[in-house]
Amino acid sequence: MSTKPLAIVILAAGAGTRMKSDRPKVMHELAGRPMVNWLLDACKNLQPEKIVVVTGPDMPELEAAIKPHVSAVQKTRDGTGGAVKCAAPALKGFTGDVLILLGDCPLITKSTMAALINAKGDNALSVLGCVMDNPYGYGRLILNNAGELEDIAEEKDASGEQKQVQLVNTGAFCADGEKLESWLGKIDNDNAQKEFYITQLPSIIKSEGGQTSVAVIADPTEIHGCNTRTDLAALEKTLQGLLRRAHMNEGVSMQDPDTVYLWHDTKIAAGCTLEPNIYFGPEVTLEAGVHIRAFSHLEGTHIKSGTSVGPFARIVGEVNVGKDVKIGTFVEIKRSTIGDRSKMAHLAYIGDCTMGEDVNVGCGAITVNYDGFEKHQTIIGKNVMVGSNVNLVAPVHIDDGAFVAAGSTITEDVPADSLSIARDTAEIRKGWAAKYRKIKEAAKRKKAS
Ligand code: UD1
Ligand code: MG
Repeated sequence: MSTKPLAIVILAAGAGTRMKSDRPKVMHELAGRPMVNWLLDACKNLQPEKIVVVTGPDMPELEAAIKPHVSAVQKTRDGTGGAVKCAAPALKGFTGDVLILLGDCPLITKSTMAALINAKGDNALSVLGCVMDNPYGYGRLILNNAGELEDIAEEKDASGEQKQVQLVNTGAFCADGEKLESWLGKIDNDNAQKEFYITQLPSIIKSEGGQTSVAVIADPTEIHGCNTRTDLAALEKTLQGLLRRAHMNEGVSMQDPDTVYLWHDTKIAAGCTLEPNIYFGPEVTLEAGVHIRAFSHLEGTHIKSGTSVGPFARIVGEVNVGKDVKIGTFVEIKRSTIGDRSKMAHLAYIGDCTMGEDVNVGCGAITVNYDGFEKHQTIIGKNVMVGSNVNLVAPVHIDDGAFVAAGSTITEDVPADSLSIARDTAEIRKGWAAKYRKIKEAAKRKKAS
């Protein structure tokens, strides 16, 4: 790779009109993280001397997301060329290579950027090109008979013949930092969109007798731009594929990877198994050997080794689950701690609860944690047996070794090793059902005759 000092300019001031959104386009998220942050990570791998992000006015959210990198505000969004001009003061005196990237192409890899920098070498400029089956919307790289880059024709300016060209501008450039400012001064807005296009650089350099080169990338997926919500979904799909592969390479089994949605910070240890259709939201950590069954949803959860979750479980928000726990079908857990080896095999709601070890929670048992105004805590000790269909009305404490009988609504603390039973005694009327049936059937016969 080139040994010249490197600076990177990321263009991110565009209004993102085609996204139909009030958010800056580059703040739209992929795997729960703004696209600009994915790009910044890839850039950091190149160890540049400086990264300058061109932002628009009134984009405080974006300014905060890119810190500690420098931002340059483009007051009037007059095109990609105008945007690079805004970065020039921050690059004053820099004479190395300047890599110019589009903030809306966030999945470009370190090796692709390195190839572009190498292609520049001692040339004035290199452009990253790609052959697209459907080049619509992209600038076309116009080469002369000698195969040299003459010009870039934007979709709206291209002639019918130029539109047939499938070699497109991915939007990434590497320019000679010493001359960049003078070239920027020569860009005009004499085009269909009346914008200052950065894509005018090759023709300006050519007219000065300078040399440009094109680095062609084989796979268009990583430089797919994001202009619309459909593009955003396509990028998400690509990124999810990369994240899943990274997890599988680290020893995570996925029975149907395409149906597992990962957050950027999902941590899954080797030896975990994921069944189909699982959603990971922010801040989930799974220790070794955890098994997540189909159709489960996890967020803000730490799960220790050997535990199984689901199918159809939902665990959200500040949940800590111990070792070898069984969380079964249609179980929801919120803001709770579950001790080792505890079991809630089906249809339970555990909210604002601290549960000890070896607890068994029966089917349909719930913590009643909300009184309409505030949430309250349920404390369950170790070795507790909570029967089916129990309501534990918080705040309440069920002490170690206690039994709570099925069908009970518990509003008072239960001491250790006691039985708590809160239900009416059934009254049995022998022969009542047979008599009732007889009367009803006689009435039915009379009506029909
Ligand atoms: C641009 C290229 C096109 C290329 C395509 C690749 C130009 C004129 N066209 O078109 O050749 O094939 O990307 O995806 O460069 N931006 C600013 N300030 C502005 C305008 C844009 O910072 O005034 C930023 C945007 O935030 C965006 C990037 O520049 O991140 C590209 O702008 P966009 O309008 O999406 O350009 P494309 O039409 O995609
Ligand atoms: Mg674009």
